[in-house]
Amino acid sequence: MPSILLAAIYAAPIATAVIVIWLKSRKDKAVRMAAKARDIDGKVVIITGANCGIGYATVAELAKRGAVVVLACRNLATGQAALNQLSHDVYGNDKAASTGKLHLLRVDLNSLQSVQDFSREFKSQFDRLDMLINNAGIMGKGYALSTDGFEQHFAVNHLGHFYLTNLLMDMLKKTKGSRIINVSSGYYLKATSADFEDLTSVQSPSGFKPMQAYARSKLANCLHVVELCNRLKNEQVSVFALRPGFVRGTQLGRHFNQFLLTLATPLIWFFSKDVNQGIQTVLHCALADDKELESGALYNDCRKEEYSMLVSDDNARKLWNLSEQLVSSKVKQA
Ligand SMILES: NC(=O)c1ccc[n+]([C@@H]2O[C@H](COP(=O)([O-])OP(=O)(O)OC[C@H]3O[C@@H](n4cnc5c(N)ncnc54)[C@H](OP(=O)(O)O)[C@@H]3O)[C@@H](O)[C@H]2O)c1
Repeated sequence: MPSILLAAIYAAPIATAVIVIWLKSRKDKAVRMAAKARDIDGKVVIITGANCGIGYATVAELAKRGAVVVLACRNLATGQAALNQLSHDVYGNDKAASTGKLHLLRVDLNSLQSVQDFSREFKSQFDRLDMLINNAGIMGKGYALSTDGFEQHFAVNHLGHFYLTNLLMDMLKKTKGSRIINVSSGYYLKATSADFEDLTSVQSPSGFKPMQAYARSKLANCLHVVELCNRLKNEQVSVFALRPGFVRGTQLGRHFNQFLLTLATPLIWFFSKDVNQGIQTVLHCALADDKELESGALYNDCRKEEYSMLVSDDNARKLWNLSEQLVSSKVKQA
């Protein structure tokens, strides 16, 4: 074989790798970082789904800035393990700094009763709530019903958070300058309908598509923010929806085929953000000054972004009414 051909065979993969790494580093540099201007020392924050992924990394950043954070987790064992690790990472051996800063309370968003129990417990321990971050979520799970008989993406990602937010509203209203942050997803753009009735019956919709159910639950997160904003016009409570981007290193893909996910690792690495990059828009909504944010808006890559056509006031009101009806049909109000 001529030596020039041999050289080309060896050089091609090396050149490809260099180009891929260069392109990836350019993509990484383009990720915007949060403003982090607000002082949140001593402010009380609840974050759902805080034991792993985006929730866990967000707690670490808020705790470093002095916030009192309540980890709202469905599994107390994994929640406690996360709290211990966070405590070690954030405060090290400084016992005084860590005292009273991180708390763990159980909430299973799949059960409205559990949401009610969480809210009661929180109110018995705290007298203010500066920030509620509705972060917990499931994706790509086959058809299954929540404890209350609703499709689980709808129940966990939307309805549980809807009820939680309503139950905590009195505390949010009385805490000046409080914020509600819904962690939605760019996947909401794939939702084909803003009609949620079929996800609220015990009948499996024919041809159920888990990713469509996820998309619609993430659309519901946006509609929830729009209606909250309309209802909170005369209150000092701001509300934001956000898209974190495609974030690797979380457990969101746990319902996918793990073999295929492993095969796709290089592609995922190339197209995704790491968790620190992935939490920047959450941190932006949590920590930017009021004047830099617009209540009711959607944020992506630390910037405001227009909603899709399905996010209308009309659809937001309809979903609110449906959600209220569903909750009141299942639970006695706290
Ligand atoms: N990762 C991404 O690329 C991406 C992109 C766009 C949007 N998002 C959104 O970001 C949020 C966080 O996702 P992630 O990527 O960090 O995923 P993750 O690592 O799987 O974290 C999800 C969290 O939600 C909790 N959770 C699930 N079901 C729950 C329930 N019934 N009650 C209470 N908590 C429950 C999980 O608790 P357990 O561990 O106990 O199950 C976990 O703590 C989700 O809302 C997701 O839709 C993520």
